[in-house]
Amino acid sequence: MSDTRHRFWPIFLLLHAMMAAIHGEDCFHPQILPHKLSLLDTKLDLSHCNITRLQPSTFRTYHNLQILDLSYNALEELDFSVFQFHTTLQRLDISYNQLRTINCSTLQYIRGITHLNMSYNYLETMFLCKEFAILTKLRYLGLSATRIDRYDFVNLAHQELETVFLGLEHLQHYESGSLQLLDTEKLHVVLPQTSMNTTPLYNDFNISTTLELSHILCEETCDLIVEDIRKIIQKSKVSKLILSDVTMPWHEMIEILSISWRSTIEHLSIYRFTFIKEFVYEVIDFSQGSLKSLTVENVIPQVFLQSGEEHPLHMISKMFIENLTLSYSELSYFPCPPWPSIFRSLILTNNRITDGIFDGCSTLPNIQSLDFQNNVLERLSSIASMTSTMKSLKYLDVSGNRLYCDFRTACQWSQSLLILNISRNKISDSIFNCLPTNLEVLDLSGNQLSSVNNGINHLKVLKELYLSSNQLSHIPDCSHMSKNLIYLNIEENIIHSPAKEQLSKCQHVKRIIAGKNTFQCNCELRSFIRTAEDLHESLIGWPQSFTCEYPQDLKGVMLKDFHPSEISCNVFILVGLIVGAMVVLLVFMLFLCKYYDLPWYIKMIFQWLRRKYRIRNNNNEEAMMGKCFHAFISYSQQDYEWVTDLLIPNLEKGDNSIKICHHIRDFIPGKAIIENIIESIEKSYKSIFVLSPNFVQSEWCHYELYFAQHSLLGKNSDHLILILLEPIPQYLIPNKYSKLKAIMKHRTYMEWPKEKGKHGLFWANLREAIKANIPLEE
Ligand SMILES: *[C@@H]1O[C@H](CO)[C@@H](O)[C@H](O)[C@H]1NC(C)=O
Ligand SMILES: *[C@@H]1O[C@H](CO)[C@@H](O)[C@H](O)[C@H]1NC(C)=O
Repeated sequence: MSDTRHRFWPIFLLLHAMMAAIHGEDCFHPQILPHKLSLLDTKLDLSHCNITRLQPSTFRTYHNLQILDLSYNALEELDFSVFQFHTTLQRLDISYNQLRTINCSTLQYIRGITHLNMSYNYLETMFLCKEFAILTKLRYLGLSATRIDRYDFVNLAHQELETVFLGLEHLQHYESGSLQLLDTEKLHVVLPQTSMNTTPLYNDFNISTTLELSHILCEETCDLIVEDIRKIIQKSKVSKLILSDVTMPWHEMIEILSISWRSTIEHLSIYRFTFIKEFVYEVIDFSQGSLKSLTVENVIPQVFLQSGEEHPLHMISKMFIENLTLSYSELSYFPCPPWPSIFRSLILTNNRITDGIFDGCSTLPNIQSLDFQNNVLERLSSIASMTSTMKSLKYLDVSGNRLYCDFRTACQWSQSLLILNISRNKISDSIFNCLPTNLEVLDLSGNQLSSVNNGINHLKVLKELYLSSNQLSHIPDCSHMSKNLIYLNIEENIIHSPAKEQLSKCQHVKRIIAGKNTFQCNCELRSFIRTAEDLHESLIGWPQSFTCEYPQDLKGVMLKDFHPSEISCNVFILVGLIVGAMVVLLVFMLFLCKYYDLPWYIKMIFQWLRRKYRIRNNNNEEAMMGKCFHAFISYSQQDYEWVTDLLIPNLEKGDNSIKICHHIRDFIPGKAIIENIIESIEKSYKSIFVLSPNFVQSEWCHYELYFAQHSLLGKNSDHLILILLEPIPQYLIPNKYSKLKAIMKHRTYMEWPKEKGKHGLFWANLREAIKANIPLEE
């Protein structure tokens, strides 16, 4: 058994990894969880992870856990004491599990909870035990039920909730009045799809001011649903109705709209409306109703892509409502109302609206707020002239379009405009020559501005100016700008070397946001940093968001911590320092030369190195033929002591690596001296001459020198080594020895140093000079 398991182990691991990949990154696994997530994470998504049990230790390390999603798992029971160390936990989603009961005695461990979603479990009853009263911070509660009895919610009676979600698809039984115990601003319900009598339930939907009905699906039998909604609207007296995830034909939707038109409802929102069947244009009177605002978001497929006069938008544009939102619905235009409308706010964001919208439209006299965020507008001049007929327009948002400056003639803006948001477009510097003069707030962030020109000075009442994420390389000159300016945002530009004066000119601005720029940390920046430190109260984000970008090695360093030394920033100090260092070095060298004979050491080491190199190169065997000594020594009898006591012992060292030919022991007795000399020189690799005033006087020595120099085998002039034991004044050398004079003039010789400390190097050098591979002989 264990054998086979071993064999399949790799496959098992692979499958395991694949499962983990399918289940997503954040899936629960007792071993990997603690390592995978940062302990600082406040949010944990463990939905769709097949979790069946929670261990007490599972979340122990996540002290900051605030939001935990455990939906779509297989939990059968849940002991809330697993969260006893998470007093920070605020939102807990345990919907779509298999819980059968609530472990009431452990509810105290989540007493800080604000959002609790327990819907779509297998709970047998809806009765919420008395421990729910502990959850005093609870604002959102999600439940689903098959039956609801009279006192199920009695323990929540004193809780002021914001939203209660009830998934009632499978509701079989509802006891009248049960919901009346709840106190919530918003009730969100999925309506029953069973055949129970819904009247008592719908009568109780009057508990909240906002009612959301979701998952309204009618493909065949729409009449019943529309009838239900009519009943609910008439009974509930809500002021805000939200219909979400709706699938129905256009006709039924219009019917619901006209039911709402004359009811208590003031705000109707429809989210995610899937339109089915044919579009049929209907003429319906949408004048003078109760409805003040209508929001429609996410219409699929796009009914608004219809063409022709009988367009759904024509119907909508004739509505008498104050505020209209049509978003995420692929609108490419919106018609100008045929008569003066009461629209105050139009929000047409995230569509495909193009230039020419409301061109010359004079029937929007009351419009105060227009939002065209995230569309495909291009010409700013057409937007400007569009506003010129809107006498009440205060707020215009055209951010996230493709707008560029194309002003050729004088620009016309509505003079009532106070807030203009043109962020995230392709606006260039010429914008400053054409702006509505009464602006209080101007947002030009995320454009292509490279500088701010004087045009900005015409905005006399400007309070807030947003210029972040452009290509500004300088801080704009605030000195001539509006005296009311209290907010200036220039972060994320390419300001690298701001001058100090630029910043001090903006002193009167209460909040300056200038971080995240590409600051170049060099000497010039120092004065800016000083000013910034003085102004730190109004400089928002100082010091964290002010960091060096260049040079590379300072990248990420806060400007606050950038302190270049006075030396590196002042050329005179720097030059002075270099000259000073050179002088000190020179003096030091002179000192060394004078007291420690530096040149002598350098020369010796240089010679030693040269010899070492040479030996390695021409130490060929051929040259060594017939040699039996490394060196022949010639000296004057007066220097005998130095030679026998120092020279020979230091060269031979008793290890036989160097053999010296010394006439006292190596001359063959009986032979003529001359013969001996010649033979010795020829048998030696080198000839060492110990020069001294004595040497010069010695007849024999001259002979030896003569022979050595003319030795047949000593072809390379290198085989003579001259040691100058004592200086020899030129006059001491008799004239007849012109040879010696010449040699001493032209050949370098090694001087015997008087200082003991130098002897080591002298001997090493000399040994190196005569080192060679002498063929061994008996
Ligand atoms: C309509 O929009 C205006 C302007 O944005 C706003 O002041 C007002 O509160 C809105 N009215 C309703 C009923 O939503
Ligand atoms: C301008 O619109 C953007 C969204 O496109 C928004 O984030 C920004 O806050 C708005 N600016 C102002 C000043 O409200």
